[in-house]
Amino acid sequence: MCGIVGYTGSMEAAPILLDGLSKLEYRGYDSAGMAVFDHNKLHSAKAKGRLKVLYDRTDGGKTLKGQSGIGHTRWATHGIPSEVNSHPHFNSSGTIAVVHNGIIENYIQIKNKLIDKGYQFISETDTEVISHLLDYYYDGNPLSTIAKVVNRIEGSYALGILFSQHPGDIYAIRKDSPLIIGVSETGNFIASDVPAILKYTRNVYYTDNKEIVHLNGNQAKFYNLDLKEIQKDLSVVEWDIFAAEKYGYEHFMLKEMYEQPKAFKDTILPRIKSNEIHLEELSLSDEVIKKLRKLYFVACGSASHICHTAKYVMEGMARIPVEVDLASEFRYRNPILEPDSMLVVISQSGETADTLAALRLAKENGIKILSIVNVVGSSIARESDSVLYTWAGPEIAVATTKAYTAQLAAVYLLSMHFGKIRDTLSTTDLNDLLTELQTIPDKIQSILDRKEQMQHFANRYIGAKDIFFIGRGIDYAASMEGSLKLKEISYIHSEAYAAGELKHGTISLIEEGTLVAATLTQEALYKKMLGNIEEVRARGAFVLALTNKGNEEIEKNADYIFYIPKTYEYFTSCLVNIPMQLFGYYVAVGKGCDVDKPRNLAKSVTVE
Ligand code: AGP
Repeated sequence: MCGIVGYTGSMEAAPILLDGLSKLEYRGYDSAGMAVFDHNKLHSAKAKGRLKVLYDRTDGGKTLKGQSGIGHTRWATHGIPSEVNSHPHFNSSGTIAVVHNGIIENYIQIKNKLIDKGYQFISETDTEVISHLLDYYYDGNPLSTIAKVVNRIEGSYALGILFSQHPGDIYAIRKDSPLIIGVSETGNFIASDVPAILKYTRNVYYTDNKEIVHLNGNQAKFYNLDLKEIQKDLSVVEWDIFAAEKYGYEHFMLKEMYEQPKAFKDTILPRIKSNEIHLEELSLSDEVIKKLRKLYFVACGSASHICHTAKYVMEGMARIPVEVDLASEFRYRNPILEPDSMLVVISQSGETADTLAALRLAKENGIKILSIVNVVGSSIARESDSVLYTWAGPEIAVATTKAYTAQLAAVYLLSMHFGKIRDTLSTTDLNDLLTELQTIPDKIQSILDRKEQMQHFANRYIGAKDIFFIGRGIDYAASMEGSLKLKEISYIHSEAYAAGELKHGTISLIEEGTLVAATLTQEALYKKMLGNIEEVRARGAFVLALTNKGNEEIEKNADYIFYIPKTYEYFTSCLVNIPMQLFGYYVAVGKGCDVDKPRNLAKSVTVE
């Protein structure tokens, strides 16, 4: 996620900006930049890659003189990582500089209107729209200018703004993206997060959405969009610097689990306009979609579990046959690839070697590639014909959570879009699904709010040796992820099994007290699952049932139940996944494992 720092006061700004940005590196980024006011002009420096490149280029900030400035680390969402795409972005005359964290959902429409008015764009970013829109509305008063811009843009943003006609001033405003205001004797700050300014002050203001901030070296003032000044209460930050880097969460994994509602929302909302799905970004014609005779879903690890889920969702909604493969198998099995088919690869990092190799193999055989990726400009994205980005933001913990959930969101959108184009989903069904899809973030949040239930249950299994996850249909795919989450961070052996397969061998492993997590969210398979629960309980298993609210009669069959909110059966995977994440997390924490960096694992497996 992007990082913003701003400073204005009695000290040189650039070294402070670099120091602050270094404290935000944990947010993940791929380029960085600064703009500083000096001698009536805005001066800037930008660099692709690590912050050190910018540091070296400006000799630790010494070559960028001035006592007020803004800095930014960019996590690319629109436009590949590059200097020209890095922030700050300027208006054409260079008198306005902007740094932005968030996504401007209607940037294309605004960009087209500004181009029609003669504005020229140099970057591929959504942010550049803001710098030109500020120019368009600029009337000499930054407050009224910002109010007009904010009334035009949609989406999420935290903005830091410099106007060269207002030396020493910094303006800021946020909506849904984090921004704090720090005040001290030596100057005042804006920042995306506390760590960036904790070295200089613990006195902060937290602004609410759409409150305009006006800072100079001596004061911080706040205004509503009617330009009425508003009083804000000063807060004192209690966190220590390390805790603050995780917003106070103990681990990045827990923080990222709590970012799942936003990751899901950021992935679907920019693609839904007046309750219709818009995936023009795929540049896939209706004709191509209608002609499709098969889809190959290929990935590794957790992403491969998304592929298994996608089989049920895509085949159910769009009636296109789906073949699922592990990338490490696909690339060596000399696959039979049919004409009028498409390879769909899923990858958080966009750099997984086996998945990239599978993509290249299919491409060599003339197959079109669609990728679902979380890193803009990654190798897999660059080599695909179509990319459906997940907008989960950078995922630091090795065990994926928010990216996984965002990948499910992308699969739902894609399946519904294909179903609409192929007329396998009625307009009514589509509307109902789309309406329900937009309730998912709140339903995920409602499960996260009940984390203690899973935390207490998990504590019983810190010493477990074997834990089984069983399910049928889409619940079997969900069980795969639940099992992997537990294994990779707690080092406890676990297996996911198709519940109907237990009697063909595995049930011999069930002993007195063996924990079996049974997922049963699919009505047509519910009674079958009750039978499987009986099978394992008869042999001594302790059964955790994960099922929909309303299935209370299960309390006669299972030993412990976690209910998920009711939703369409296609969407249960992204809900039932949350208690399984929490279970794995709290077992691992209870065992004292290194949750964010599990032994032997890397965040991106870029080697075979
Ligand atoms: C997820 O928790 C694992 N760390 C791992 O299985 C991961 O999903 C797999 O390596 C694929 O990575 P990718 O999504 O970046 O391609």
